[in-house]
Amino acid sequence: MPSLLITGANRGIGLELCRQCLEQGWTVFATCRQPEKAKALLSLQDKATELSVYALDVRNSEQLEGLQSVIGSQPIDVLFNNAAVYAEEASQFGHCDEDAWKEAVAVNLLAPMKMMECFVDNVARSEMKVIANLSSKMGSMADNRSGGSYAYRATKAALNAVTVSAAQDLKHRDIIVMVLHPGWVRTDMGGPQGELSVEQSVSRLLELIHRADKSDSGKFLDIDGTEIPW
Ligand SMILES: NC(=O)c1ccc[n+]([C@@H]2O[C@H](COP(=O)([O-])OP(=O)(O)OC[C@H]3O[C@@H](n4cnc5c(N)ncnc54)[C@H](OP(=O)(O)O)[C@@H]3O)[C@@H](O)[C@H]2O)c1
Repeated sequence: MPSLLITGANRGIGLELCRQCLEQGWTVFATCRQPEKAKALLSLQDKATELSVYALDVRNSEQLEGLQSVIGSQPIDVLFNNAAVYAEEASQFGHCDEDAWKEAVAVNLLAPMKMMECFVDNVARSEMKVIANLSSKMGSMADNRSGGSYAYRATKAALNAVTVSAAQDLKHRDIIVMVLHPGWVRTDMGGPQGELSVEQSVSRLLELIHRADKSDSGKFLDIDGTEIPW
């Protein structure tokens, strides 16, 4: 059965991805900032022995190194970079809050990059060999017709760029590196008006992951499998 390593697993899309993967019999390495407070995630542990939960603030290099040594050489079929911040204080023109920008860069861009570098050998050792970076259509410059959301859009666009480079650099190891858009989802970030429930979004994301092949590497895929322009 496949294995998943995921960031930001305590709520929203990350939590639901853990739930559905465990339901399908996967082994799940779930990370979140405060496992002791992640009640919904920990409750999945009662039903599944294949779930391990680790503390990881994705900005914390020591925790990342610790995670790397705990996971050791175990294969990871899917590395799913999910954690992100919207950075409200860095979203409007005329309100350039430097700390909010720094947090967005650290969480949305540097962390997925470091996760890829830390766990690439584990992914290479697996059957599926997939790295999925959860981006957003808001990172598409071609699709930007409403402006705003400066730090969120910019960091997701940069995440898209590093994903394309990694797809090229890891091709010789047969690793598929993709950027996925989950749709507009009813979570804390997406808000209550979102078009999809977490259940709907995650089941479609999992379909995309299951059917991913080499031709998908370096692509920016919408939830229905169509390509999103950069
Ligand atoms: N919802 C949508 O409509 C939508 C649309 C497009 C893309 N996305 C993308 O989908 C992904 C998940 O979004 P969501 O809607 O599920 O958002 P969410 O409900 O706001 O969850 C965000 C997750 O990121 C975690 N996180 C934030 N900063 C972190 C840090 N420093 N270290 C570790 N974890 C951190 C949060 O943990 P804490 O609980 O500790 O804060 C939480 O688990 C994100 O990449 C987002 O950009 C969502």
